Amino acid sequence: MKKFLLAAAALTFAVTASIAGPVEDREAMMKGFGGALGQLGPIAKGEKPYDAAVVNAAIEQLSANAMKFDVAAMFPAGSGEGTEALPAIWENMADFEAKVAKFKADVAGVAANPPADQAAVGAALGVIGGNCGACHQTYRAKKS
Ligand code: HEC
Repeated sequence: MKKFLLAAAALTFAVTASIAGPVEDREAMMKGFGGALGQLGPIAKGEKPYDAAVVNAAIEQLSANAMKFDVAAMFPAGSGEGTEALPAIWENMADFEAKVAKFKADVAGVAANPPADQAAVGAALGVIGGNCGACHQTYRAKKS
């Protein structure tokens, strides 16, 4: 009986996860990116003091989140409708994937050598934020 309940619970979980779907998954991931950068921005600007624990936690979160960026799973064909994901993604899939690969590599580079002072936080934000902007410019609909 216990085994059956566990299996049923696992099944419910799997179904829920698939109902959540690729759009929710990618938007949750993007929100996570925004949250991590939101921690680093005020430090880079000097509005908050450099705090290694805060910086390292934000970079760790960003990095774990970035490694989940799975284009095939999160951007299946036909999943753009009604979202900010532009058709250009599926028209230029190789370029989109290259942008994801560069983003992951840049985040991994920062995570391997986390910024040790305020200036380094600014530099890291520049490197990482450049990827967000470059991709959004081409592949995300601008809010009107
Ligand atoms: C390789 C492309 C790519 C990269 C890199 C990227 N994004 Fe996005 N982002 C998108 C696309 C496409 C959407 C629209 C997704 C949708 O509407 O389904 C989006 C949406 C978002 C959203 C809105 C999410 C929502 O709730 O609808 C936020 C916030 C965001 N991105 C932040 C970031 C930040 C911060 C970074 C960098 C750390 C980043 N993104 C990197 C492609 C990218």
